[in-house]
Amino acid sequence: MRLKDKVAIITGGGGGIGRSTSLRFSQEGAKVVVADIDSVSGQETVSLIKENGGEACFIKTDVTNSEDIQNLIKSTVEIFGALDVLFNNAGIGNSEVRSVDMLEEEWNKVIDSNLKGVFLGIKYAVPELKKSGNGVIINTSSVMGLKGQKYLSAYNAAKGGVILLTQNAALEYGKYNIRVNAIAPGVIDTKIIDQWKNDERKWPIISRANALGRIGNPEEVANAVLFLASDEASFITGATLSVDGGGVIY
Ligand SMILES: NC(=O)c1ccc[n+]([C@@H]2O[C@H](COP(=O)([O-])OP(=O)(O)OC[C@H]3O[C@@H](n4cnc5c(N)ncnc54)[C@H](O)[C@@H]3O)[C@@H](O)[C@H]2O)c1
Repeated sequence: MRLKDKVAIITGGGGGIGRSTSLRFSQEGAKVVVADIDSVSGQETVSLIKENGGEACFIKTDVTNSEDIQNLIKSTVEIFGALDVLFNNAGIGNSEVRSVDMLEEEWNKVIDSNLKGVFLGIKYAVPELKKSGNGVIINTSSVMGLKGQKYLSAYNAAKGGVILLTQNAALEYGKYNIRVNAIAPGVIDTKIIDQWKNDERKWPIISRANALGRIGNPEEVANAVLFLASDEASFITGATLSVDGGGVIY
C-alpha cells in the first residue's frame, strides 16, 4: 500500500477528480477527509469509501472561506490525529466571455475558488504538515494554467497563479521536507465540462484536441495525484505534472 496510514484531505472531494482521488487514496491505505461545499456529493464519496472497507469522513468546507479551512485542518487532526497529505483540488470554471464583458463578481469568485482556496489550504495546513515530517501538498492547476485561451481570463489567471504558488511553497517549505507539486489536467470527463459537451459545434474539436485524440477520465488524474503523494515521488517538488493526453503540446 502506497499511502498506508497517511491522513489525506481532498478538497472538492465530492466531484469527479476529487472523488476518484479519494477512492484511489483509500485503496492505498489512506484515511481520507473529503472536503466539499456540496454536502450531498461529499457524503456520497465517503459512503463509497466505507462500502469498500476504507476509512473516511466528510467535512463541509467552502475553500474560499478562511474559517472553514481552519476548521477543516483542526477537525482533521482531532479525528485522525495528524495530517500528511493535502490535495487542494476544489475549483470552478468561468463562463466563456471576453474580459471586457466579465462581471467583477464572477472574476472574484473564480479567483477565490481556484487560487485563494489553494493559498488558504497551504497557509493553514503547513503547521500540521511540518509535524508529519513527510508532508505533501498537491494543487490542481490546469492546461489552462500553462497556456492562455480566449474567453477564460479569470480561470487562466487563477490556474497560472496556482503553478507559481506551488513553486513558491515548494521553496518555502522544502526545508521541512514538505513537497509541493501541481497537476495540470487537460479535458477530463467531469461535471465541470458539461457546458462544452452540450456544444455540438465545439465539442468534437475540444474532445480530440490532444496527442491521444480523446478526453481523459478522473481515474487517470487520480493515479497521477497518487504518484505525487507517495514516497515514489520523494525527490519531486515544485513540479507541474500535465495529465492531458498531450493537450499542452498540441
Ligand atoms: N475536468 C476538467 O476538464 C479539468 C481540467 C483541468 C482542471 N480541472 C480542475 O480540477 C478540479 C476538480 O474539478 P472536476 O473536474 O473534478 O470538477 P467537478 O465540478 O466534478 O468537481 C469540483 C468539486 O469542487 C467542489 N467545489 C467547488 N467550489 C468549491 C468551494 N468553494 N469549496 C469547496 N468545494 C468546492 C464542487 O462542489 C465539486 O464537488 C478543479 O480545480 C478544476 O478546475 C478540471
